[in-house]
Amino acid sequence: MAVTKSPQEGKLSGEVFYPSPEVVAQANVKDPEAARKEANENLESYWARRANELEWFQKWDKVLDESNKPFYKWFVGGKTNIVLNAIDRHVKTWRRNKLAFIWEGEKGEVRTMSYHALAREVCKFANVLKSMGVTKGDRVTIYMPRILETVVAMLATAKIGAVHSVVYGGFSVEALHGRIEDSESKVIITADGGNMNGKIVELKKIVDEALRRTAAPENVVVIKHTGKEVNMEPGRDFWYHELMTLPLTRNNQRCETEVMDAEDPLYILYTSGTTGKPKAVVHTHGGYQVGVYSTFKDVFDIKEEDRWWCTADPGWVTGHSYIVYAPLIAGATSIIYEGAPTYPYPDRWWGIIEKYGVSVLYTTPTAIRGLMRFGSAWPNRHDLSSLRLLGSVGEPINPEAWRWFHKYIGKERCPIMDTWWQTETGMFMIAPMPADPLKPGSGTRPYPGVEVDVVNEEGKSVKAGEEGFLVLKKPWPAMLRTIYKDPDRYVSTYWSKYPGMYLAGDSARKDEDGYFWIIGRVDDVIKVSGYRLGTAELESALVSHASVAEAAVIGLPHEIKGIAIHAYVILKAGIEGNEKLAEELKQHMSHEVGPIAKPEKIEFVATLPKTRSGKIMRRVLKARAQGMSEGDLTTLEE
Ligand code: WTA
Repeated sequence: MAVTKSPQEGKLSGEVFYPSPEVVAQANVKDPEAARKEANENLESYWARRANELEWFQKWDKVLDESNKPFYKWFVGGKTNIVLNAIDRHVKTWRRNKLAFIWEGEKGEVRTMSYHALAREVCKFANVLKSMGVTKGDRVTIYMPRILETVVAMLATAKIGAVHSVVYGGFSVEALHGRIEDSESKVIITADGGNMNGKIVELKKIVDEALRRTAAPENVVVIKHTGKEVNMEPGRDFWYHELMTLPLTRNNQRCETEVMDAEDPLYILYTSGTTGKPKAVVHTHGGYQVGVYSTFKDVFDIKEEDRWWCTADPGWVTGHSYIVYAPLIAGATSIIYEGAPTYPYPDRWWGIIEKYGVSVLYTTPTAIRGLMRFGSAWPNRHDLSSLRLLGSVGEPINPEAWRWFHKYIGKERCPIMDTWWQTETGMFMIAPMPADPLKPGSGTRPYPGVEVDVVNEEGKSVKAGEEGFLVLKKPWPAMLRTIYKDPDRYVSTYWSKYPGMYLAGDSARKDEDGYFWIIGRVDDVIKVSGYRLGTAELESALVSHASVAEAAVIGLPHEIKGIAIHAYVILKAGIEGNEKLAEELKQHMSHEVGPIAKPEKIEFVATLPKTRSGKIMRRVLKARAQGMSEGDLTTLEE
């Protein structure tokens, strides 16, 4: 067979995987270079073209308003609602009968939901929320397992113009409490529990405990999922299934989609940053829908007949953008699996791919490394021939894991889309398209219209191959608009180090071919198994234990998790550090923040390295732990 070579064939350095002619021939974007050029030449017309692929109640007057930087506005004057594109427009077409979701529980239960059924559920639940007094702009906290009602709750909230705040179901009491309190949510939606690794995660119990620490919201809606008995507070707690069958309104099967301004908030999502408490990033209806839709369609090359599986949790941004919103806007069919990848055996995922004929799989390096450990015999027991494309997100993927994923899961046929982005960016920023040549470990090149650079301390571009700070030099439609209730922090965190540039908080380098290589976080964020945690939140949880006087946490390399938490603890006078106390502190972290926050190691110390102003120097702890030079320590007082 004559092989059509990629135009770049032979021109790129290092280990390169060129797309096969078949992949290029069927790609939604056959010439990614031309798309990048189009957006480079005229950013606004590029995004207007993409926005025109969606429905609007009323078109915008201006694509991008830069009059009040960095408070950029997109599709100004446009009227829309993301639900108009995610549901309403599909139920007017043949897609009403298409499956929106196929759900599998950890115990093997299966549920499916068509676009039509989803539309009905969302309308009914939107009416429930209205009956509880939720109106446009009100916040609703969603704290749920990975089930279809999570998606229904998010969409119902958006439909009536309220703002959802989803808190990851793996977070625990104090993390949840802080997020409920800061968001001033009117309603909390939760479940009697979730199934994970053969155990029940008692979400309702955690909600009860969190609510004892805060002024209680008026209503708690509880989904019966595990059947485990839970405490129901009369007058505050209501069963979802009862609310959904009661004739709450005259016609509870229908609910108008609220007409929103393009710039009205859609959701807030708490994420860890440099200092202090987690901050809530604000995303809007208009630009966000355009950004997530176009990146999904181009990068994951979605087709009508695909079966898409993003293994993330809806509680993180990956779930928001690429389980809920983008796939629905694109009219895709998604798989959602509730449980652990290794339950009951390490081939659960491969079995799911075979059973449902998954064609595109999007997952994390931690999951790949974790499954790789069990060997290729597990995937080899299954027919994975339905797969045509793979994806990775959340942390840098080491080339070894990339090659295993490519060989044993993708059978050397499926390109791997390594997507770099953040809670703040809302959509992929650096990512290949299937027709692009790939280099294992690199997210390749920026998405059209995205301008990425690597700069030094002074904000000057560094040379190819040199390490520096990753910055974004142009606005993009799905960008965060502000920090909830704290616009100053939005400016100081992202836009102050270098004027006119968005500071991502990552270090990176760009090679001679213009490919980006992410090295890791350079701020106080720790990426444990791809989950984003902040040192401040972790340290304050440690200090909330009665025995702890002071604490510092750092991230150190870990074979499976990528990065693991190491904690240094100064105990209160008279308390002795031993194994038992270390274990107790680990449990305390799990109870307060969540199981993902459990430190790998706790070390009891007498002092911590600090600057003269009293700031803990984590970089010194890190250097010591890794046996490296401690750098310039002149400002250190110890
Ligand atoms: C890291 C997750 C390397 C990075 C969508 C970023 C990555 C942070 C990649 C954001 C990738 C995400 N390669 N690193 N493909 N994707 N990261 O907000 O450090 O949970 O700044 O968003 O994850 O994490 P967040």
